[in-house]
Amino acid sequence: MTEDLSKPTIIMGVTGGIAAAKSTLLASRLNKAGFDVRVIMTPNATKFVSELTFRSLTGNKVVTDMFEEPEEWDIRHVSLAKKARLAVICPATANFIGKAANGIADDMLTTTIMALGCPVVVAPAMNDAMWANDAVQANVLKLKGLGYVFAGPVTGRLACGTEGLGRMAEPDAIFDVVMHSYLAIGRSSLKGVKLLVSAGPTVEPIDPVRYIANRSSGKMGYALASAAAARGAEVTLVSGPTALSDPLNVEVKRVDTAEQMLKALEDGFEGCDAFVATAAVADYRAKEYSDRKIKKEKAGMKELELVENPDILAKLSSMKGGRLMVGFAAETEDAIESALGKYSKKGLDMIVVNEVNERNQPFGAEDNIVSIITGKGEVESLPRMSKSELSHMILDRISELMA
Ligand code: PMT
Repeated sequence: MTEDLSKPTIIMGVTGGIAAAKSTLLASRLNKAGFDVRVIMTPNATKFVSELTFRSLTGNKVVTDMFEEPEEWDIRHVSLAKKARLAVICPATANFIGKAANGIADDMLTTTIMALGCPVVVAPAMNDAMWANDAVQANVLKLKGLGYVFAGPVTGRLACGTEGLGRMAEPDAIFDVVMHSYLAIGRSSLKGVKLLVSAGPTVEPIDPVRYIANRSSGKMGYALASAAAARGAEVTLVSGPTALSDPLNVEVKRVDTAEQMLKALEDGFEGCDAFVATAAVADYRAKEYSDRKIKKEKAGMKELELVENPDILAKLSSMKGGRLMVGFAAETEDAIESALGKYSKKGLDMIVVNEVNERNQPFGAEDNIVSIITGKGEVESLPRMSKSELSHMILDRISELMA
């Protein structure tokens, strides 16, 4: 079999649980994202999903048997382990977690894991009582201490019909952890850093059916929060209303208005080392909220009186202390000049400037073209890239500034 060296190899371990059915979605997303996905199933996993399913989704032969005659002679668990840039175990049973934590290697998956030198993401799925079991928790703690990254579990409906903490996280959320763990390889660690991030729009109510808002989807801020968490930071994300799910390994506080966002950020600011303001805060709100729908015919709508919202970033910057302050700016004209103004006026250490024009529509998009301003106004222009990649570039700069 010839190797495609342009595709990074990911080992995907699948162990025996009903969540194995959902892990097919992860295999498919990893494949579509350009990874060479090598699935290793435990014999129990094959009772829930067939090897053929994963083979069809990844285009690669699925390995289950340690002693199967290989196509070319090699010690397969060692050769796979050597090639892998990352491994993800999805779902991970209590049995797998116990074996990995205690150095037990008695099948193809555990022997391969034992031979790995790359990051491993673990997505547990089990009954809530099993997850809460002291032995399981001790094993989880041990694996975390060894550098394994956990993606979930989450609270939700379990296979046994009850609700509890033990459900496998959604494949998209696990994908984000895998992708950010992959992008974090070879980059500076943010272990010990407490990062506060704002994201999304704020929504300012006018009456029960109308509001003032903007087109921010939250994607930039959520990507930045996930990227920082994958690099070991303790992340708090204060988010305006978005359609996005809470990222894993991040503490999320949901708010609606600018005033609520200010309050939530003030609460988190005291204990943070750096604040990154990706939120598109509405500059104005209705002076008075009407608890009845304002009639179109009445003067109320035409003469809606607005008041200015607090400038959150400027307010927090005035209490900066030793913290690093990063702002964002989105402008349709004179982007750099206008961002430079905000950079010095708000006392920032860095500002990330999005141009909004025919070439770049950052609101709601998956990718973005930005310039980063630091120091005495040095401008670094970056090419178009995904918001995930951009997040790591921004974190690289933050890490340099904090050093
Ligand atoms: O959410 P996405 O769809 O992924 O889109 C991402 C984004 C385009 C929203 C994001 O990359 C971005 O540029 N956010 C800032 C948008 C903006 O227009 O900012 P501004 O120029 O209004 O404000 C500058 C800075 O001050 C920002 O960091 C903002 O968070 C902050 N600010 C602004 C007004 C206000 N009242 N309080 C603030 O804290």
